[in-house]
Amino acid sequence: MRAMFNSEWFIFLIILNFVLATPPPPNPFRTPLIEKNPFLIRIHFYVNSEKSHYCGGSIISQDYILTSADCLDYGSSISRQGSEPPPRFRQLRIVAGSNDLEAGGSLYLADSEFYPEGYKVDPINNNIALVKVKPSFRLGPEIKPARLRESPIQENSDVYFAGWRSFKKYHEGDPHSQTLQEIKLKVMSSQECQNYHDQLNRNQLCTISYIGQGLCRGHEGGPLIIRDPENEIFAVATKEYSCGSGFPEVYTKIEPFIKWINETCKCI
Ligand SMILES: *[C@@H]1O[C@H](CO)[C@@H](O)[C@H](O)[C@H]1NC(C)=O
Repeated sequence: MRAMFNSEWFIFLIILNFVLATPPPPNPFRTPLIEKNPFLIRIHFYVNSEKSHYCGGSIISQDYILTSADCLDYGSSISRQGSEPPPRFRQLRIVAGSNDLEAGGSLYLADSEFYPEGYKVDPINNNIALVKVKPSFRLGPEIKPARLRESPIQENSDVYFAGWRSFKKYHEGDPHSQTLQEIKLKVMSSQECQNYHDQLNRNQLCTISYIGQGLCRGHEGGPLIIRDPENEIFAVATKEYSCGSGFPEVYTKIEPFIKWINETCKCI
């Protein structure tokens, strides 16, 4: 009798474990994504002529890209982090129209950088930036400005993020990921997100994905994309990523900065 109870209990535990197990994250989409997202660019940093890191951004007009300020601020004159001495020479190279991390696309340089007025005193609330490029973008099927969404997004909406770096868990790595990939995320309510990020402010927004899949280094500055009813971008990723550890990612909303963006680029 006792043995039978034990085996039933054992089967029950197996079923319970199956029900509670976190589903594995779906594989990121790997279709030719640049034509689906022709506004996506990468900013490669060169420091003293050496290739350093890169982050993301979006084309918003023939001459401007939108990114996060924490993507740009490495070595910039506006804000230096940590005790590192400023690099002697910092150059931004902007790659547009590329599906592949190491090949394709066309190259542009940064002409000037713009930060909202409040950035210096309140960088968390104003984590957004514009870069004017030179020469102007040569537009085509793989290089096109994004539409900026000016109305709010509903909680739980399906949204998308694309980037050249892996979306896998940080410690698992994915050194062979070289092509643009896209993942589906959900917009989280600010109230819920405050359980993870208690400093969350009104200019920020969070998304959540599966454990084991999320934004990581190199994704900051890239846009959150809504597909329905049409492709629009509405937030930029910040360095508050969790690399798939289950914490929500934090973005800067674009909508509160529309006026500043338009005053700077005169393009909306
Ligand atoms: C952007 O600025 C231009 C003038 O430079 C103005 O005509 C236009 O209405 C503005 N757009 C928005 C969305 O504010």
